Amino acid sequence: MVKVTYVHHDGTRTEVDGKEGDTVMHTAVAQDVEGIVGECGGAMMCATCHCYVDDEWLDAAGERRDGEEDMLDCGAAEVKPNSRLSCQIRLSPALDGLVVHLPEEQM
Ligand code: FES
Repeated sequence: MVKVTYVHHDGTRTEVDGKEGDTVMHTAVAQDVEGIVGECGGAMMCATCHCYVDDEWLDAAGERRDGEEDMLDCGAAEVKPNSRLSCQIRLSPALDGLVVHLPEEQM
């Protein structure tokens, strides 16, 4: 199991156990974490899975993938240096304890 904490816009936190190999988006949707929609199912075509990777986890989460930046620009939430599409972050043991912050709105 890989622990992921989603910090909602109001500061509340939801901590869940994810499976290695699943994405941060899928983990949230499968466990009814509010604030991640994942409308396109992870095909990188909607940007409703926008998250802000906590500063402490930026290196472990890795770089944005090709095309991710363009899709982030299409979303409703402000794009920041730590913005990622959560459907493009795959859980691994190195991400155990990952913290991501959620925007106020996704659509
Ligand atoms: S779920 Fe659509 S871009 Fe991530």
